[in-house]
Amino acid sequence: MKSFKIISIITELESEEELSSEEKKLLRLARESAKSAYAPYSNFFVGAALLLENGKIVCGSNQENVAFPSGLCAERVAFFSAGAQYPNVAIKTIVVTARSEKFSINKPVTPCGDCRQVMAEYEDRHKKNIRVILSGEKGKIFILDGIKSLLPLMFSGEGLRKK
Ligand code: THU
Repeated sequence: MKSFKIISIITELESEEELSSEEKKLLRLARESAKSAYAPYSNFFVGAALLLENGKIVCGSNQENVAFPSGLCAERVAFFSAGAQYPNVAIKTIVVTARSEKFSINKPVTPCGDCRQVMAEYEDRHKKNIRVILSGEKGKIFILDGIKSLLPLMFSGEGLRKK
């Protein structure tokens, strides 16, 4: 028997002021996108902005439904939109942020497990790590060099492929 460690490296910025100008622009667009969230049940308005390898930016916001599982997170709205519009283009960066009138969001928003799984598959599909930038309404920012840092031991479907 043996144990092993899986290490995720997360860079923490004191504030968004430390982002590059391109990243600040993506954060601004993610915030803008959060305004189009449909979140009457949670009051948690999430926005995501993706920068693609071809320079295009694709945004998404969470879209809820009274039948709760029918709604979708901002990250997956953005990823599926990018996949539908630019199926052969890799995704370089995702910025996620959230706002609420009910809560103060002063910590970075961290994606749910379903979104991690979906994002990880886009990395595999395009064979390119996606830079992840997570923010709240204010406060610290987390940066990760790839989705796998958020999803160790992910299900990759390897066993489903024919040898
Ligand atoms: N949500 C996102 O859109 N992204 C996240 O990273 C966390 C959660 C949404 C789902 C739901 O509409 C609301 O936030 C509350 O969970």
